[in-house]
Amino acid sequence: MQLYKTKIQGTGKYHPDKVLTNDELSKMVDTSDEWITQRTGIKERRISDLEKEEYPSGMAERAARQAIENAGWTVDDVECILFATTIPDMMLPNTASQLQARLGITNQCACLDINAACTGWLYGFQMANSLIQTGVYKKILLVGTEMASGFNNWQDRSTCVLFGDGSGVTALEATDADGDSFVIDSIMGSDSSKRMALAMPNGAAMSPITHEILDNREQYITMDGQVVFKSAVKTMASHCATLLERNNMTLDDIDWFIPHQANLRIIETVGKLLKFPSERVITNVQKYANTSSATIPTAMHEAIADGRIKRGQTIMLAAFGAGLTSGAAILQF
Ligand code: COA
Repeated sequence: MQLYKTKIQGTGKYHPDKVLTNDELSKMVDTSDEWITQRTGIKERRISDLEKEEYPSGMAERAARQAIENAGWTVDDVECILFATTIPDMMLPNTASQLQARLGITNQCACLDINAACTGWLYGFQMANSLIQTGVYKKILLVGTEMASGFNNWQDRSTCVLFGDGSGVTALEATDADGDSFVIDSIMGSDSSKRMALAMPNGAAMSPITHEILDNREQYITMDGQVVFKSAVKTMASHCATLLERNNMTLDDIDWFIPHQANLRIIETVGKLLKFPSERVITNVQKYANTSSATIPTAMHEAIADGRIKRGQTIMLAAFGAGLTSGAAILQF
């Protein structure tokens, strides 16, 4: 039963100040600005400084304060924090609880971490929408934050050029006003047959860190880039096509497309498969690289802040990530 609709009431983002350009990276590993730009579109990325508390909860606090202010809330209005992140602050407590403490929320709101890698924010969006529609919560803080520099192997050129750090936070609020924003539809999934194509197999329960793992530098992310590329393109395009078809919509009904910002070539290929006009695709991967669960909320925040996305417009979102998880959603802003 649907009691309420979900409105994106406020957004915020944070990226660390420290910029790492492709030219600087090419002094660290055998790569070049030309190779990275051609294969990914990425020009630079941001890197966290732990001295500045730019770990997940620290970045998320800055983005969350902005989202809460934009939404016109106080911190104690927050009834639930859904925190999508791949690498938490600590194994325990969860990072949502860390954020509750940092924000000074005293109402003992619900705190849950979501790990669906780069699809985490979108998974959280579907969960938050269900919780709001059914009247469980009226105000949810949905966080996508990643400190990818913590899992990057800075000696592996095939992965370290791809990722960056950042945080995007969305303040979601229940509404029952006619003509107000709402989520039109969403779809989530995962293809676990390809789960080891993007993995960090060591450092948790199955394979705790040992001296041998550290000596062999096996504590970092591993990836089969081509498997991930092909799967990303196929699943994002097919999820979007499914949503359009089952809601009797065409591309003309969509004002903006915000895909997960992993790689400009993936974004362009999905756009071509869908025949979606490139001028209506929002990107920021060039500036920040792949910030995993933070890419969609930060790109959305930027496009709202600079006036591209306006109230009443229709937005299509799509993401994929380790799992291999994937999803898409269409909403009226
Ligand atoms: N700089 C220079 N050369 C590099 C390099 C780098 N940073 N990384 C890899 N190479 C080399 C490889 O060693 C290989 O050399 P070889 O032909 O001598 O063996 C060559 O470039 C081609 O490598 P390949 O892996 O086939 O390149 P690719 O065209 O598949 O592009 C990716 C690699 C990673 C850019 C691409 O596969 C991709 O974008 N995959 C998706 C990754 C992703 O988005 N992951 C996150 C998901 S959320």
